[in-house]
Amino acid sequence: MKRRGFVKLCATAVASVTASPELLARENQQYRRYGRVALVDSYSKEPVRAVTLEVGETYLFHYPFVSTPCFLIDLGKTVDSRSHLQTRDGKPYRWQGGAGPKNSVVAFSAICAHKMTHPAPSVSFINYRHGETQFRNNRDEIEERSGVIFCCSEKSVYDPAHGGRVLGGPAPQPLAAIELEYDDSADVFYATATIGGEMFDRYFSEFHDRLVLQHRRTDIDATMDGSSELMRLSDYTQHTVSCQA
Ligand code: FES
Repeated sequence: MKRRGFVKLCATAVASVTASPELLARENQQYRRYGRVALVDSYSKEPVRAVTLEVGETYLFHYPFVSTPCFLIDLGKTVDSRSHLQTRDGKPYRWQGGAGPKNSVVAFSAICAHKMTHPAPSVSFINYRHGETQFRNNRDEIEERSGVIFCCSEKSVYDPAHGGRVLGGPAPQPLAAIELEYDDSADVFYATATIGGEMFDRYFSEFHDRLVLQHRRTDIDATMDGSSELMRLSDYTQHTVSCQA
């Protein structure tokens, strides 16, 4: 579905949102439902099984649009923090925690909340660090911790165990989270929604020409439909930039 069509659908959905307290609450939490998209292995095209995910590895898929990259990470620990966060313009929302058999799998938009640095096939300046990493925190101190998403452009650092909150650097809001649904009977993950401050309109506007070339299609704002291929970030990009404080 084209983005224009999706916006129309959202406008139509407002009536049902106002009729449902649950949906209204989700709306207030910056929750945006998109299509239910199964995550499949980029090689086998089979659903991604929880047991095949390597703890600490950075995986990449596209959601909710064909040209918007996301990270998926098995943090290796239960993540049920129910973090309370807010967007750059002060709108509060709540993040639901991890998914999967151990509630350890999380997903976020891989578009940095500062100036929208994101992974591309040639290079990625943003990635997840499972091991200890030094960075400059929000108190302007050097801090060392494991399990962070680090953007090397201007050194924004995010905490994927707490909804992508900002730990340091110039980013004005958390990374937008991707809601994951896990079907334990079939061992299948689905991406279903975004939670938090989206930046997709700015992203399409700023990177339009390069995204058209990269994805070899003009409808870069078409929504994902059916399934999305998951791969290691190292298989998607030729060069992962590493940096520290
Ligand atoms: S774009 Fe990521 S820190 Fe500036």
